[in-house]
Amino acid sequence: MTSALAATEKRSAPQMSELTPYEHGPALSDATLTDSSLALTWEDSTRTTLPLLWLRDHCACAQCRHPQTRERLYLPLDDIEQAPSVTLADGHLYLQWQDGHVSAFHSGWLYQRRPEATRFSALPAPQPWRDDFFPEGVRHADFLTPEGEKTWLTAMLRDGLALVTDAPLVEEEVSRLAERIGPQRATNFGGRFNVRSKPNPNNAAYTAVGLPLHIDLPNWQQPPDIQLLYCLQNDASGGESLFADGARVINALREQDPEALVILSETPIDFRFQDDTHDIAIKAPVITLDSQGELVEIRLNNWIRDTLHLPAEKMAAWYRAYKVLWQLFHSDAHQLEFTLKPGQMVAFDNRRVLHGRREFDPNSGARHLQGTYLDRDMLASRLRVLARTTA
Ligand code: OGA
Ligand code: ZN
Ligand code: ZN
Repeated sequence: MTSALAATEKRSAPQMSELTPYEHGPALSDATLTDSSLALTWEDSTRTTLPLLWLRDHCACAQCRHPQTRERLYLPLDDIEQAPSVTLADGHLYLQWQDGHVSAFHSGWLYQRRPEATRFSALPAPQPWRDDFFPEGVRHADFLTPEGEKTWLTAMLRDGLALVTDAPLVEEEVSRLAERIGPQRATNFGGRFNVRSKPNPNNAAYTAVGLPLHIDLPNWQQPPDIQLLYCLQNDASGGESLFADGARVINALREQDPEALVILSETPIDFRFQDDTHDIAIKAPVITLDSQGELVEIRLNNWIRDTLHLPAEKMAAWYRAYKVLWQLFHSDAHQLEFTLKPGQMVAFDNRRVLHGRREFDPNSGARHLQGTYLDRDMLASRLRVLARTTA
């Protein structure tokens, strides 16, 4: 330490202008300047080194961070030419910069945000379904409590499929549940849509035919992330719901037929929806992987697939790969089937988990689902907000 605060001086703990709690970390026990960095040690012997420019950039005073919006005001374009004077008081860090500006850092905030720490607001990582997977169900009454909603959100981000059960049979409840989490993502089918067989359907879902596994709206640049389907009536014979996990199936495809995975992830194909007022089309691969080979998104929907516009000599290999993937998804090893009961809402990550339904007989009884979409960002946001107050 280059300087010590007079032992008599009393200050309140630095306020970092954060809504996420940070106060519980250990106190700092040492701060030592090294070149253009500051080496910090906490009482539990944890150490880190932070560049002075990073520290200056993260000053939380009202000039550097807007006190109401909590957004950054400081622009870090100037080098730090002279080291600040460094003080530890009550285990917190105080820096006085060359120009007299003072930055105060709470020890717990620094501890939480040190480069070596796992992310301070870690969300549940996606986990491919195991063999005995069945979606977590949260009763409607519990979903309305912070703990219940948290359980449901966690399952959604982890498994990409979750249920709400014992929900009231009232129209629009799907919108009310969705809007607890975020604004409904509207599409060409509206903000909220009814799934039942109707005259002059503009979509296979609005007939009584069986729907093989698919994602909705693969023809959009950004298909909806999360789909909610709320069952109000299911008296028709047939109509069982089908699901399969893209993350699990891609792993199986990599094992079984790596060449098919390469073809499907490296060959953009056309998807298109057209009706009287819309023509929404995109070219994208069926499977998108990140640089680590992990699934980013899957676009499988055989009826929204447009003309296969590929060099003729590449077509046979593409069709072969498509068949392998299709058969894997629809195999007993990967396809989950159950009947949605009235008063149940199923939700799934539309860009990871495929959904479908068995054919139903519209003359045997009514089947009515109400659906809407949400952005994944809103699920993550809700979970972070709930984490402020629940353990
Ligand atoms: C849909 C759909 C499934 C069902 O509306 O996109 O796939 O169970 N519906 O009717
Ligand atoms: Zn400042
Ligand atoms: Zn669908």
